[in-house]
Amino acid sequence: MSRPTKVIVNRQAIKNNLALANSLAPTSKFVSVIKANAYGHGLIEIAKTLSDSTEAFGVACIEEAISIRNAGIENPILLMEGLFTEDELQVASEKNFWLMVENKFHVDALLSAKISTPIKIWFGIDTGMHRLGFQQNSIYENIKILESSTNVKKPIVIASHFANADDLSSNFTQIQIDRFDKHISNIKSDTSIYEESLSNSAGLLGWVDSHRDWERPGYLLFGNSPFMHSHETEKLLEPAMDFKSKIISIRTISAGESVGYGQNWTAKRKTKIATVTVGYADGYPRNAKNGTPTLVNNKTCPLVGKVSMDMITIDVTDVCEVSIGDDVVLWGHDLPVNKIAKYCDSIGWELLSRITSRVPRFYIN
Ligand SMILES: Cc1ncc(COP(=O)(O)O)c(C=O)c1O
Repeated sequence: MSRPTKVIVNRQAIKNNLALANSLAPTSKFVSVIKANAYGHGLIEIAKTLSDSTEAFGVACIEEAISIRNAGIENPILLMEGLFTEDELQVASEKNFWLMVENKFHVDALLSAKISTPIKIWFGIDTGMHRLGFQQNSIYENIKILESSTNVKKPIVIASHFANADDLSSNFTQIQIDRFDKHISNIKSDTSIYEESLSNSAGLLGWVDSHRDWERPGYLLFGNSPFMHSHETEKLLEPAMDFKSKIISIRTISAGESVGYGQNWTAKRKTKIATVTVGYADGYPRNAKNGTPTLVNNKTCPLVGKVSMDMITIDVTDVCEVSIGDDVVLWGHDLPVNKIAKYCDSIGWELLSRITSRVPRFYIN
């Protein structure tokens, strides 16, 4: 026997979600973003799942890229924050890692590197996110220097990142697209050996104008809507993860009795409490509020009391038949992670990527 807390990942769902993205941007190539352990789904398994259907992968750092390569996966891998130290260039050149070039340090390192194979670069420009990327007055000069370097493989991809594409009512995404297009026309005035990339999941699904040579979806691959509000594509996406555990104890308490650390929930009626073996050390968020839904035998059961390190307590009074050993769905196909995130003042991206290594992942399909 072993602890029943687990993540079940449906590989076919992830393939289907990428196929859906492909069908919406049929002339684009895809960098499938699988950083942060593929948003909690398991880096290597997901890289293997998608390697035949994506051109490239996107990760946050060279360590993630090396793990993918060491698993025998040959797709190019984009280091989405560029390099952190100059010695990464040698490895990038040898292993066909692509680099986001975001600042002068990246440019200088690339120009002076002694590498035998040129590196494909993605030149990041800042259109309003104000996090990474070249600002307006330094774009032209730096990209032209890179264009003439033999260390740089052509075509260069010019890329930017959206700050607010998940909010379809905001005009800021269009402002970013317009700024991007203005920079592109300047850069391309004397040559056109460039490719372009703008979209994350929300851009791809919600902003057709942002479709370019390359799309960079992450969150949608795992079947969750990237939008703040309900959107038509929601029903087309297939959630790929079920986060589940089991009931390990059941008790009935009287009205007026409280549950858990800090006594932050008190029963208003005679209440049947089930204890479930999952906690914040597994990635179930500690700030989940009282009332956060779970599913027991297809019935919604609210979280009551604070989340402990290894356990939570839920109110199962309204479930007719409930026993120790019953399954509890924490989020998944029938309980969107986006819904749970709202009860935690968080976002689904955070909840998925914070499931810890203690939780075993099982793969189906
Ligand atoms: C530069 C960049 N592109 C694409 C993505 C993928 O975003 P999403 O998971 O919202 O699709 C990210 C994610 O953080 C990113 O930083």
